[in-house]
Amino acid sequence: SSTVAVRAEGVGINPDVRKNEDKVVDSVVVSELSKPLTAYCRCWRSGTFPLCDGSHVRHNKATGDNVGPLLLKK
Ligand code: FES
Repeated sequence: SSTVAVRAEGVGINPDVRKNEDKVVDSVVVSELSKPLTAYCRCWRSGTFPLCDGSHVRHNKATGDNVGPLLLKK
């Protein structure tokens, strides 16, 4: 709807991750992953961004959204 579009334009998707940066970019050297499975946040609510800390669960419950992490498997 237009309401959603206006809200997205005014606020954006990122509520508070590294707002001092022009663009939040992270890179991962896949060959240097230490764990067999690492979860990266895609909901922008994690307190350990870019890693997922499970905050998407609360976000999904509060909003009816269905977001979850990107899993990198070694
Ligand atoms: Fe953002 Fe899990 S905390 S995807």
